[in-house]
Amino acid sequence: MRIGILTGGGDCPGLNAVIRAVVRHSVKSFGSEVLGFLEGWRGPVDNMIMPLTLRNTETIINRGGTIIRTSRSNPFATEDGPKKILDNLKKNNIDALIAVGGEETCGVAKRLFQEHKVPVVCIPKTIDNDLNATDYTFGFDTAVNVVAEAIDRLHTTAESHNRVLVCEVMGRHTGWIACHGGIAGGADFILVPEKPIIIDEVIEAIKKSHSRGRDYSIVVVAEGARFGDAPKEEVENKNGVFGIGEKLAHVIAEKTGYETRATTLGHIQRGGSPTAFDRVLATRFGVHATEMAHEKKFGRMVSLQGSKITDVPLEDAVDTLKTLDLSLYKVAEVFFG
Ligand code: F6P
Repeated sequence: MRIGILTGGGDCPGLNAVIRAVVRHSVKSFGSEVLGFLEGWRGPVDNMIMPLTLRNTETIINRGGTIIRTSRSNPFATEDGPKKILDNLKKNNIDALIAVGGEETCGVAKRLFQEHKVPVVCIPKTIDNDLNATDYTFGFDTAVNVVAEAIDRLHTTAESHNRVLVCEVMGRHTGWIACHGGIAGGADFILVPEKPIIIDEVIEAIKKSHSRGRDYSIVVVAEGARFGDAPKEEVENKNGVFGIGEKLAHVIAEKTGYETRATTLGHIQRGGSPTAFDRVLATRFGVHATEMAHEKKFGRMVSLQGSKITDVPLEDAVDTLKTLDLSLYKVAEVFFG
């Protein structure tokens, strides 16, 4: 067979480990060939390709990013996008396409499968861990480790200056990174998109811990968290584009009188080498997807359920987001204040 593979959406540590696994298993176990489509869905639309071999994928398991690059390009943005994909798959004699991506990439795959019969299998990836129908996505563990290490560093500088440090982490829609990273880093308060920010609760927790003689605090906030109760003028952006971390730091400083600073970790959470956990998960996903492709199990996504790798229909994965498990947030709350 000839297998095509693409990586779509934001990059994420572990993508190269998936590519390596798909190539190794396809070539060695099935005698198949693998073709990389470059830059997400732009690759099969514009026929941007790169042959993938045992040789050019052998030393990439520990490398961050994706050697076939990525983009947020959507083939449904133009009327002839899906037809171009079908033509280019035919032109390259592709029997099965493996799309590695998050909600948007898998959503496109679902439509291509249902509306145009594209033979596609998906592998879930996102540092945000918000894709439904899988317990974890690879990339998340690496991001959480980056956050935990950053919070460890913030502790020592916060303590030295008696400051409150607000750490803004990724998570547009969900608080998985904030909650796991915050628990691991020993945060004094964690704010997530699933729960509106009640500023008085944050202030009370900070003051409580300071009243015990601990003169510094760490507050972790997901980029998608929003105020539920603060008066508009307190959170208004007065000098330009502020993220939620900056806004929160401003309000905390005003309400407590404590010196407060904000740090935004941004794309540092997404770059660099994957953790061992993510390398193993990505490799297991790649091996399973290769088997699905050769068995023609199309329109499905690989999934981790408990400790087992299985697969689910694409519609189970993309129709709703997997929001934070609030029982986990309750664990975090034990350590607030
Ligand atoms: O979806 C993953 C993610 O890292 C989000 O947490 C973040 O909001 C977004 O991507 C950033 O995307 P971009 O790199 O396109 O700005």
